[in-house]
Amino acid sequence: MCGIVGYIGNDQATPILLNGLEKLEYRGYDSAGVAVYDGKHIQVEKSEGRLKVLADLLDNGKKLPGTIGIGHTRWATHGKPSDINSHPQVSNLGKFAVVHNGIIENYLALKEFLLKNGKTFVSETDTEVVAQLLEYYYQGDVLDAVIKVIGKVEGSYAFGILCEDVPDQIFAVRKKSPLIIGLGKNENFIASDIPAILNKTREIYRLENNEIAVIKNDQVTIYDLDKEVVKKTPCHIDWDISAAEKGGYEHFMFKEIMEQPKAICDTIHPRIQNGRIVLDDVTLTKEEIEQFKKIVIVACGSAYHVGVVAKYVIEKMTRIPVDIDVASEFRYRNPIIDDKVLVIVISQSGETADTLAALQEAKRLGARVLSIVNVVGSAIANESDDVLYTWAGPEISVATTKAYSTQLTVIYLIAIYMADLLGKLSQEEYQMYLKDLNRLPEQIEEILKHKEQLQYLASKYFNAKDIFFIGRNIDYAMSLEGSLKLKEISYIHSEAYAAGELKHGTISLIEDGTLVVALATQDILFEKMMSNVEEVVARGAVVLGLTTEDHKEMEQSATHTFYIPRTNDLMLASLAVIPLQLFAYYVASMKGCDIDKPRNLAKSVTVE
Ligand code: G6P
Repeated sequence: MCGIVGYIGNDQATPILLNGLEKLEYRGYDSAGVAVYDGKHIQVEKSEGRLKVLADLLDNGKKLPGTIGIGHTRWATHGKPSDINSHPQVSNLGKFAVVHNGIIENYLALKEFLLKNGKTFVSETDTEVVAQLLEYYYQGDVLDAVIKVIGKVEGSYAFGILCEDVPDQIFAVRKKSPLIIGLGKNENFIASDIPAILNKTREIYRLENNEIAVIKNDQVTIYDLDKEVVKKTPCHIDWDISAAEKGGYEHFMFKEIMEQPKAICDTIHPRIQNGRIVLDDVTLTKEEIEQFKKIVIVACGSAYHVGVVAKYVIEKMTRIPVDIDVASEFRYRNPIIDDKVLVIVISQSGETADTLAALQEAKRLGARVLSIVNVVGSAIANESDDVLYTWAGPEISVATTKAYSTQLTVIYLIAIYMADLLGKLSQEEYQMYLKDLNRLPEQIEEILKHKEQLQYLASKYFNAKDIFFIGRNIDYAMSLEGSLKLKEISYIHSEAYAAGELKHGTISLIEDGTLVVALATQDILFEKMMSNVEEVVARGAVVLGLTTEDHKEMEQSATHTFYIPRTNDLMLASLAVIPLQLFAYYVASMKGCDIDKPRNLAKSVTVE
């Protein structure tokens, strides 16, 4: 959500900014802009729409000279997407240009204050208030002005700031929204995320809340709010650069779907040593687990759907009750949490604003927080008591696939680990689960080999107006994810329903030709699911059945059947999700949708 890039060095800034912004496109945006100091003034160019519009306007950057600048991709919050509302926002006298990721919650009060003091506004954004405030408080020292301004604003922010009076410096500060500083040789960078600078440097600083960076081409100094210098150690990024590139695939989403076997191997293997699960540094002892009266899982989006599966898996294995909540609900409902509760937070980015706030609320109430996170050193990882990383590598596509899959496998590891300590598993069961876990990557490879079948099915149904997903228990959890995947990238209306609940309302929507994706992977529920399939078929539905290879009976009722290999019921989720991802992908592809950057969506949702 909103991407920030900044460059200071000896090369022309604009092409570097445009290149960096392109790498941040995945975050989601609707307009883009740059501000570059051209030797005399700060020049701003911005436009609504895709980055390409801006790049064309600037002849790929050639038209805007200067070696210091900031750039931005905007995901509209205050004011519709438009040229004027795009960032950078500039102060009245043109002294300050600001790019911003986040939300200034008290911007109306601040705007009123500034209006009374003679400032005028051209945009509807909260960010313009910050540019004006900087100019208002500026008395010759930008650092002082920045400290003053962040003392006034409430909300979340990552700012990149240029001031015309000090054209050899970029200023950067963040609170709750991510921002890193890339350290080069006689050049430095700021960025919302690593891919933006990965082709330039691998040494970075992660800014902490309210640390202010003053960046020159040969020096980066970081201050706290008392203007004391903060000593930081650079962090080395050892990502393979190809991980953040498409590598010959048409879309990141497809590449990431195909990467799932490896991502799962990377996540599981280091944690199984000599036939036992070792959860990194997480010290969950038998005594600690025994004193948890419940587990609460909090997350957003697909990560929440992992939580829905986790409820079934953890409860079944450990018999500890599990509550699951979307983070934006949890944080405002006065949850019943204390030190006898384990809160598991799941997040790919580790930056999702609601999830982070839910974590903080859980900690405030005394819970122990264990997070499952993909981005090392992210805010959620930093603030948790324990972290288990998913080793999925960078995930660029907005619609998550490999992060989802690796999160699931970490849930299995936690569940087996706890169940074992609690004495709920025999050694045979323990070894069986480990064996099944280890087999998942090759079973997923097997499913991926049949992708053309899903491409064919997508070609038949990509014009559908509505698609329903039904299932029971874990299959219901998978229906939620299958439905979300489809609607977010193909824009087809879709609903997921617990199959037994269908006849309490949604079945009224089934008519001749409605496509229903029926998940029936759970052995003990297969017969019940078949009754639900019959119910929709009787009302004219076309059914795409998804089941394990030993349930050929599905073909008697379903119009089409897709088979997945067999494993224990709890881990079938990891296999069932693959065809759902592929189906959504192919449908969106046939509809010609912008798969990696679906409309209105953002990868990292850093605002409430
Ligand atoms: C956005 C993404 C989803 C993701 C959700 C939570 O909506 O598009 O793919 O599941 O945020 O993000 P997180 O980074 O916390 O997993």
